[in-house]
Amino acid sequence: MKIAIMGAMPEEIEPLLKHFANYKTIDYAKNKFYTVDYNGHDIVIAYSKIGKVNATLTAATMIEKFGCDTLLFSGVAGSIDEDLRVGDLVVASKLSQHDLDITAFGHAHGFVPEGSVYEATDVGLINIAKEVASEKNILLKETIIATGDQFICDVSKKEWIKKTFDAGAIEMEGAAVALTCNNLHIPFFILRSISDAADMDASFSFDEFLESSARISADFIVSMVDKIID
Ligand code: ADE
Repeated sequence: MKIAIMGAMPEEIEPLLKHFANYKTIDYAKNKFYTVDYNGHDIVIAYSKIGKVNATLTAATMIEKFGCDTLLFSGVAGSIDEDLRVGDLVVASKLSQHDLDITAFGHAHGFVPEGSVYEATDVGLINIAKEVASEKNILLKETIIATGDQFICDVSKKEWIKKTFDAGAIEMEGAAVALTCNNLHIPFFILRSISDAADMDASFSFDEFLESSARISADFIVSMVDKIID
């Protein structure tokens, strides 16, 4: 087994590099990939940089070049579901690209021919996450995540995404990772901790809580890795 752990920003993988500590750094495709031997198991850690294109390149590289056969994503998200608070953990049941739009040709938002509106997460990994959450008494909410190349800080846009995709959280990489992994037949899992409410205060909240929420997500991912390799 070779596990990829991906984030989008340095802050999202720093707690993982601190935890796994003894890593080698490999430069590839204008990015850095950190390889770890964790009790005889191979782990590759990287942050993609923000957005769907960067996320696709990094996920595909971790699978095709580094040979990862499972991918876990750790990071932060804006909340759409009103019950979610900063620091809460959400796992994607399925993901969609909210900014993919060929509705001019009669298709649903998020759909392109030969594709689908949603990409479903691996159920086995979601079940492992639920076990970790219940053992550690952590609240883990399963929700649809909407992904797009926009930082959402506008209530009307957020409401539109909620209504159109039934999403509970929003971010900028998940659906790209999901599509890459599903097309390459690699089980994946997208975990996010809430950093903001995607409203007019979102950029301030994001700056304030990026590090702490990223750490909450990364800590949970470490527990998942321990369970996966157990
Ligand atoms: N990631 C964290 N907060 C976000 C937001 N409000 N919009 C898009 N991506 C995010």
